[in-house]
Amino acid sequence: MSNVYYMKHPLIRHKITMLRDERTGTNEFRKLVEEVAMLMGYEALADMPTRDAEIKTPIEDTVQPVLDGKKPAVVPILRAGLGMVGGILALVPNAKVGHIGMYRDEDTHKPHPYYCKLPPFIEERLIIVVDPMLATGGSLIDAVNEIKTQGGKKIKCMCIIAAPEGVKAFTEAHPDVQLYVGALDRCLNENAYICPGLGDAGDRIFGTK
Ligand code: PRP
Ligand code: URA
Repeated sequence: MSNVYYMKHPLIRHKITMLRDERTGTNEFRKLVEEVAMLMGYEALADMPTRDAEIKTPIEDTVQPVLDGKKPAVVPILRAGLGMVGGILALVPNAKVGHIGMYRDEDTHKPHPYYCKLPPFIEERLIIVVDPMLATGGSLIDAVNEIKTQGGKKIKCMCIIAAPEGVKAFTEAHPDVQLYVGALDRCLNENAYICPGLGDAGDRIFGTK
């Protein structure tokens, strides 16, 4: 599982604990999801390529690093992934945004795709797939399948909370994809919810039930 990175930073861990707390309301929950996404993104994007650029400071000419290559694409898995987009855009404001719509069947827990729109030239971009929850792994596996089918090559995934079952399934399906996990939880329950988890991420972000 060398392609899985677990976040150790105390700020990330603290904010995830706040997310888990059932007393955390919608407004604060949204802010925390965005903040955690930004902090995780800072770590996940540490290997972005740079090139030398010639600039002039008020003092002298100099050659300094700037980000290289095509603009990255952030791809949230709807709905809950939407909550993480702002955090990544705070780091990379000129990133493109794609969307993958997917919901889990409540009985089978299998993902059902309903929408996919990715930015053009996807094969040349770094793609950052965001979804707060990695439970069985079905949604993220199918989302990455779709991105690869459309030509995506450089893919990183970010999940705030993951179950061991989801990490195993995902790394078996996509061993070439880097997976960044905010916290690894104990297990799934009989409804395929993560324990202890934070409940239903989409409902908590959007105030639905
Ligand atoms: C949640 C979550 C993931 C998926 C994880 O979405 O945001 O996309 O479940 O479960 P899995 O790993 O077992 O596939 P959900 O299907 O509840 O849809 P929503 O975001 O629209 O609420
Ligand atoms: N989706 C969620 O929102 N929460 C879980 O615990 C599992 C799947």
